[in-house]
Amino acid sequence: MSEPIIEMHDLTRRFGSACAVDAITMSIQPGEVFALLGRNGAGKTTVIKMLATLIEPSSGQAKVGGFDVVGQAAMVRRIIGYVPQALSADGDLTGYENLNVFAKLYDIPRAEREARIHDALAFMNLSEVSRHLVKTYSGGMIRRLEIAQSTLHRPRVLFLDEPTVGLDPVARISVWEQLEKLQAQFGSAILLTTHYLEEAERLCDRVAIMNRGKITAIGTPVQLSAAVGPGASFEEAFEHYTQDETGTRGAYDETSQTRDVIHRLG
Ligand SMILES: Nc1ncnc2c1ncn2[C@@H]1O[C@H](COP(=O)(O)OP(=O)(O)OP(=O)(O)O)[C@@H](O)[C@H]1O
Ligand SMILES: [Mg+2]
Repeated sequence: MSEPIIEMHDLTRRFGSACAVDAITMSIQPGEVFALLGRNGAGKTTVIKMLATLIEPSSGQAKVGGFDVVGQAAMVRRIIGYVPQALSADGDLTGYENLNVFAKLYDIPRAEREARIHDALAFMNLSEVSRHLVKTYSGGMIRRLEIAQSTLHRPRVLFLDEPTVGLDPVARISVWEQLEKLQAQFGSAILLTTHYLEEAERLCDRVAIMNRGKITAIGTPVQLSAAVGPGASFEEAFEHYTQDETGTRGAYDETSQTRDVIHRLG
């Protein structure tokens, strides 16, 4: 196996007395598409923000592309792209102008800027609306624009925090297709978060399920389902690995009981 592109070792982040991310150790390979899954507040965004050098760990270490996220943050920033959870493109600029801001930010040489921006717009199916103000775009178009701007510099690692939140099913599939194309063309590693389990199943090589700041399962969606029980769906695996340790009965147990009943009746 090659050197991991992302490594976390006992990575921890506290906010006051609360531990948002609790001693996570795992690694992601170059070119891998990887999802962090978990309920609201599980710690997914906090992991991504630490890896993207936006907040510092309370303890533990993380490296991206071999660079330490604290000691070598500037080097990390050079090789990553980041799309935050909330929509971030500027509505009062056109699509083209938004991309131009990022082309300058990423130091793309002036002579190459225009061609690179046009390529990115075409790649994300936005050429026709490139001169329109972003405030006239749909949510799906804005998300595709943000992915375009975060990948203008061809990052080796792309962080996407809920890339398809709030999108209708058609727009969501269009974002998936662009991400698949992007990954095939540039081979970037992609670390994303999502609440759509079918998105993780379709796009990702591996997933990690987080619960209260800890990783409770890691592997391919098929492996996680199989580990929970014969014939378990990925939804059932998710329920299982996000249950409270206090023993509240998860939906998986109920579903499997229902299945037993159906089985007996059938
Ligand atoms: N800046 C902050 N100050 C205080 N607490 C914070 C801060 N950021 C996050 N938290 C807390 O840390 C925990 C993890 O939050 P985080 O945003 O990482 O969760 P998440 O898994 O991304 O959730 P969601 O699915 O809702 O986006 C939560 O309890 C949250 O309230
Ligand atoms: Mg989040």
